[in-house]
Amino acid sequence: MYNSKIFLLILLFLINSIASSNADSGQKCSNTSSLVGFESNFTMVRHQLRGHLKILDGCSFQVTGFDMLSGSSEVVFWGAVSLNFSDLTSGFPISGQRLNQTAYKNASFSVQLLPHITWDQINVLSIWDIASTSDFGHVSLPQNGSDSVSNSVHTVFDNCKNLSDNYRARWNLNVDENWIEIGLEAAAPTTYYMAFGWANPNRTKELMSEADVTVASFTEEGRPFVDDFYITAYSECKLSSKDRTAIGVCPDVVYENSKNGMMVNNTRLVYGHRRDGVSLIMFRKPLNSTDKKYDLPVYPNEDMRVIWALGLMKPPNENRSHFCPNFMGVQRRLHMDIWCLMFQRR
Ligand SMILES: *[C@@H]1O[C@H](CO)[C@@H](O)[C@H](O)[C@H]1NC(C)=O
Ligand SMILES: *[C@@H]1O[C@H](CO)[C@@H](O)[C@H](O)[C@H]1NC(C)=O
Ligand SMILES: *[C@@H]1O[C@H](CO)[C@@H](O)[C@H](O)[C@H]1NC(C)=O
Ligand SMILES: *[C@@H]1O[C@H](CO)[C@@H](O)[C@H](O)[C@H]1NC(C)=O
Ligand SMILES: *[C@@H]1O[C@H](CO)[C@@H](O)[C@H](O)[C@H]1NC(C)=O
Ligand SMILES: *[C@@H]1O[C@H](CO)[C@@H](O)[C@H](O)[C@H]1NC(C)=O
Ligand SMILES: *[C@@H]1O[C@H](CO)[C@@H](O)[C@H](O)[C@H]1NC(C)=O
Ligand SMILES: *[C@@H]1O[C@H](CO)[C@@H](O)[C@H](O)[C@H]1NC(C)=O
Ligand SMILES: *[C@@H]1O[C@H](CO)[C@@H](O)[C@H](O)[C@H]1NC(C)=O
Ligand SMILES: *[C@@H]1O[C@H](CO)[C@@H](O)[C@H](O)[C@H]1NC(C)=O
Ligand SMILES: *[C@@H]1O[C@H](CO)[C@@H](O)[C@H](O)[C@H]1NC(C)=O
Repeated sequence: MYNSKIFLLILLFLINSIASSNADSGQKCSNTSSLVGFESNFTMVRHQLRGHLKILDGCSFQVTGFDMLSGSSEVVFWGAVSLNFSDLTSGFPISGQRLNQTAYKNASFSVQLLPHITWDQINVLSIWDIASTSDFGHVSLPQNGSDSVSNSVHTVFDNCKNLSDNYRARWNLNVDENWIEIGLEAAAPTTYYMAFGWANPNRTKELMSEADVTVASFTEEGRPFVDDFYITAYSECKLSSKDRTAIGVCPDVVYENSKNGMMVNNTRLVYGHRRDGVSLIMFRKPLNSTDKKYDLPVYPNEDMRVIWALGLMKPPNENRSHFCPNFMGVQRRLHMDIWCLMFQRR
């Protein structure tokens, strides 16, 4: 009698958990993840791995044009928090599928995530050999937005302005909450940066000088980023040999050199992706920033001159710890232009 009661309880529990896991996967397979439609090639590390990844929905992805020389019988799709070795090794299998064929040549298949796995747990999708703890190749997925806005990522904007044939800006304003959200979109290579910002309203000439701009691009691993810049001179960012102060087109933090702990990096990435050769990066800035030195106030009801640029990004090197937009000669070659935009709430 006692035993059968326990049995019944266990049975009920099982039925219950089966029902709820079904409900989970139904919800998870929706198209609501901001990653749905994300595409990228795998970065090869070993075993001649090549291929293209596309996220189909909340619980599956597709791999096409897939080449790989055989590994052990334990090569799996693997999720990890970052590409660093410690994070990779403490990753986890994300599907039940094993890549155990002798060799793959231009293969195409789709893969289901395991029922308990969701895209927001995965920053790096690797093809991982458990036997030799090695990464054969991977894709870095665009990360959650850096703040609470990640839950409500929406790529619908109230306003839109073409800056050129291949570059446009969209924006939303929230005056009460003191922010403007800007989406920059360009049909340009991944190695290009997109810059957009405001000219100092007190200036009538050399409008680049004292401008407050955001520079957005992708790292070499395909991760979107934004940086808060300020322009003190129409040249690349350099440190004066005399007093080590920065001059040029520099990130705000470089001027301040983190000396007095002032919060100067006030631009936040909201979302970014590359799709069909188009880069989209969304970020948020305060309208009235606490940084009065390197950020300009944005007056939502006034015309403000904006400046923008699109060009080749210089990756960090031994002398430069940050990505550097090459603004030299932008005015002529890359249609650096001055526009009047009305940033107004509709
Ligand atoms: C997700 O989007 C795809 C392609 O647009 C569509 O075929 C599919 O029915 C959608 N699934 C759901 C659950 O909305
Ligand atoms: C992805 O790989 C394919 C096939 O190798 C190649 O044609 C394409 O240019 C690659 N795309 C990118 C963005 O590197
Ligand atoms: C790797 O990631 C772990 C955990 O996030 C962290 O503790 C460690 O500092 C990282 N190492 C590097 C080299 O980034
Ligand atoms: C390969 O992996 C699949 C699971 O994806 C498994 O069913 C099959 O038995 C494996 N084949 C070999 C030869 O290990
Ligand atoms: C790879 O397969 C696709 C279709 O699955 C085909 O269109 C393409 O031509 C193939 N590429 C090569 C190099 O065989
Ligand atoms: C992404 O955001 C979701 C929801 O806010 C959170 O549960 C998840 O842990 C986040 N993932 C990462 C890798 O930060
Ligand atoms: C802006 O550019 C897009 C894409 O090139 C085009 O479809 C659209 O008609 C343009 N809009 C205006 C107002 O010029
Ligand atoms: C513009 O000039 C006015 C008057 O001199 C000054 O109060 C204001 O701070 C200046 N604005 C900027 C953004 O420099
Ligand atoms: C500024 O902040 C952004 C977003 O938080 C971050 O990605 C970037 O690395 C920061 N820049 C610097 C130079 O610290
Ligand atoms: C900006 O915020 C400060 C307080 O942080 C306030 O004193 C000032 O009036 C605000 N300026 C505008 C233009 O809203
Ligand atoms: C870095 O700076 C040193 C000294 O100024 C210079 O010799 C070297 O060529 C620079 N390296 C690069 C990659 O610009």
